[in-house]
Amino acid sequence: MVETLRVNNLKKTYGGLEAVRGISFGVEEGSIFGLIGPNGAGKTTTFNIVAGAEKPTEGTIILNGEDITGLSTDNLYKIGLVRTFQLSHEYAKMTALENLMVAASDQPGEKIFMNWFSPKSVADREKEVLGRALESLDFLGLTQVKNELAGNLSGGQKKLLELGRTMMTDAKLVLLDEPGAGVNPTLMLKIIEMIRKLNQERGYTFCIIEHDMDLIADLCEQVVVLAEGKILTEGTMDQVRVNEKVIDAYFGGDLA
Ligand SMILES: Nc1ncnc2c1ncn2[C@@H]1O[C@H](COP(=O)(O)OP(=O)(O)O)[C@@H](O)[C@H]1O
Ligand SMILES: [Mg+2]
Repeated sequence: MVETLRVNNLKKTYGGLEAVRGISFGVEEGSIFGLIGPNGAGKTTTFNIVAGAEKPTEGTIILNGEDITGLSTDNLYKIGLVRTFQLSHEYAKMTALENLMVAASDQPGEKIFMNWFSPKSVADREKEVLGRALESLDFLGLTQVKNELAGNLSGGQKKLLELGRTMMTDAKLVLLDEPGAGVNPTLMLKIIEMIRKLNQERGYTFCIIEHDMDLIADLCEQVVVLAEGKILTEGTMDQVRVNEKVIDAYFGGDLA
């Protein structure tokens, strides 16, 4: 198996608090991987470190065989690690279409190289980016709101737009932070469908943190269950959901 991501003996402490206590796991290339566990298990902390938003106390992160531990979010984006965020303020003041076009222009080599050497290729590239943005909006069913300011979109439309932003990049690994949170069941099905399509048609590898067990069960081949900063168990969703330690962690405590 080829691993897109490998996390080795990751630890993170905040003062005296051990949020992540030595976890290791791998994410297979082309797969949809799930990280689950009750509140406070260390999921977000793990994600933040993989995405370059925080530095680990110990341990290494390997992306496609290269040690990326401690690289910034921007540098990780350039090598194909994309994380979905809540829309930030300035993006809220751009239209849906502009949000997608900007996501593409953050890609490696774009501005500097093209602008200096060939205005024609800049124009061609812009046309290509526009085409890709319109196609992505269509794919997501957002064509009718393409000229709306992103800040005015519904919560669900913003989630879809976030997925659209990943479609504008040549992402290798996409980290999704609770794509199902606050989403109604119909939209949930749509998001699941989009993630699956992006996985199958574009070959993106996904790593998803999610509270909704059904979304994870539907999409993920392999899941790791965290509790109190450690790996409780891993396997397929069918294997882990009948594991007694998992049932205890979920139902004995706060349901994640
Ligand atoms: N920036 C921080 N400072 C101090 N403690 C934190 C910080 N971030 C997370 N924690 C603590 O680390 C533990 C794991 O948190 P988190 O990774 O957010 O869990 P999860 O996402 O699984 O709910 C929790 O006890 C949380 O309070
Ligand atoms: Mg969290």
